[in-house]
Amino acid sequence: MQNIIFDCVYSSYFCSMNKNIFRILALSGLMLLGILVSLLNATGNNNADSIACVPNSGEFFKPHFKQVDSTTYEAFFIAKMWSFEPKEIYIPVNSDLDIFVSSDDVVHSFDIENKNVQIQVMPGTVMKKTVHFDKPGIYKIACHEYCGEPHKFMKSEIIVSDKIK
Ligand code: CUA
Repeated sequence: MQNIIFDCVYSSYFCSMNKNIFRILALSGLMLLGILVSLLNATGNNNADSIACVPNSGEFFKPHFKQVDSTTYEAFFIAKMWSFEPKEIYIPVNSDLDIFVSSDDVVHSFDIENKNVQIQVMPGTVMKKTVHFDKPGIYKIACHEYCGEPHKFMKSEIIVSDKIK
């Protein structure tokens, strides 16, 4: 009789052990899957929306702005205490803007209002981000990395208009 009770208790204990092990295995499987998915996301981040660090091929010494094709424009901004160059650029609605930005002195940031763009700008490196503008407006650029008292004067603008062809 005692044996039967013991068997019963033992087997139910064993059963719940098995369930726990199964749960732990399932959980770690899920965690592994999560890690795998985020790794894949990180390595596959070459879409137009991500920020990339690009080698300075020598063209990035002077601020510039140019049209690449019918819907793509390219701008190279220089951030320095306490301004951005160029001060403003004009592009038509439904354009892709390839933004390149570097710093001439200290760490700055290049943030575009209403576009959720925040690029940390380091001297000696060129950061690139492609941003699509599908609505007309004045998109203000500001530096939100403290770089000295007058840093609130670091401003530039991307003017997106449906009147530009
Ligand atoms: Cu540059 Cu703050």
